[in-house]
Amino acid sequence: MKVLVLNGPNLAILGTREPAIYGSETLAEIEAALEPAAKELGIETEWIQSNHEGDLIEALQSGAGRAAGALLNGGALTHYGLALADAVRAFPHPVVEVHLSNVHARESWRRRSVLAAACVGGVYGFGADSYRLALLALARLVEAERR
Ligand code: DQA
Repeated sequence: MKVLVLNGPNLAILGTREPAIYGSETLAEIEAALEPAAKELGIETEWIQSNHEGDLIEALQSGAGRAAGALLNGGALTHYGLALADAVRAFPHPVVEVHLSNVHARESWRRRSVLAAACVGGVYGFGADSYRLALLALARLVEAERR
C-alpha cells in the first residue's frame, strides 16, 4: 500500500526553523524515523515537499491512481489554501491532516483549517510523532475499508 506524505511551505527548512516550536529534526530525518513504522504497517511512503500550492495539488491529482491515501501537512496553506482543500475533496482516498505543533494553542489565525473538513481527521501537537500517529490511523482506516 502506498501513501503520499505531502508537506507544504517552509517545511523544507525544519531543523533550523523555529526549533522551539517545530523541533530540531529535519524533514528528511522525520521521514527516515517513520520508515520502520511504515514498513511494519506494510506501507510505502512517498514524501513530497513544496512551497507552492499548485505542486501539492498536482501531487494529489497524479498520485490518486497509485496511492491508497495521504497525510497532509499543508503548512500555512492549511489556513487559507482553498484550492488545496478542493484538491483534497477530489482525491478519491482518505487524507489525514497533520501538524507538528498544536495549532490551537498558537495565534488565533492558526485555529482555522480550511483543509480539516476535507480530511477524514487530523493529528496535531505531537511533533514528528504526529506523522506516525496519522499513518497508523490512516492504515487502520484503509484496512477497514478493504475488509
Ligand atoms: C504547521 C502549522 C502551521 O500553522 C504552520 O504554518 C506551518 C507548520 C505545523 O506542522 O505545525 O508551517 O503546519
